[in-house]
Amino acid sequence: MDQRIVIVGFMGCGKTTVAKALAARLDCGLADLDAIVSAQQNMSVPDLINEQGESSFRDAETAALQLILDRQTPRIIALGGGAWTLERNRDLINKHGCIAVFLDAPFDLCWQRITNHPVPRPLALDEVTARQLYDQRHPLYRLAHLRVGVTSKTSADELAAEIAEAIGLRAAPSH
Ligand code: S3P
Repeated sequence: MDQRIVIVGFMGCGKTTVAKALAARLDCGLADLDAIVSAQQNMSVPDLINEQGESSFRDAETAALQLILDRQTPRIIALGGGAWTLERNRDLINKHGCIAVFLDAPFDLCWQRITNHPVPRPLALDEVTARQLYDQRHPLYRLAHLRVGVTSKTSADELAAEIAEAIGLRAAPSH
């Protein structure tokens, strides 16, 4: 089986766009964990968190992650920003032999993207709270197997190329 890649990092670091660019480069499938949770629960992620609480969202998130990992495909999985910070999810990812890639973007860039994005992030409603969460989580993101630095100038394609190069990934040959 092709090496699977899990993209992790803080809200606004570019997980979904970089995952899409990487999937296009490698010509492989992609899953977005938030989108799967939302489809399974028939509710947007912000509504889930606001109406059922974070802990219930986290349970649905872990269940969805387990399901994707057990299924063997797709090759690229973009997580929501909190998923990697839970030990149980890191254990699952490691147990399944995936490579976790941390998109390390500075807080100011993440915050700028959070505030410009149409989908609200209930766990980052103001800058002080978001920065605290960022600082708290940063050491946990660093537990990923590969760290890639993100700036406002690096495009998703450049980041995808860097990841593919670092891990030695290629598109699967067509049969
Ligand atoms: C969260 C990040 C969000 C989403 C939810 C919780 C977090 O995903 O899963 O709002 O705890 O960091 P993005 O990182 O894609 O914004």
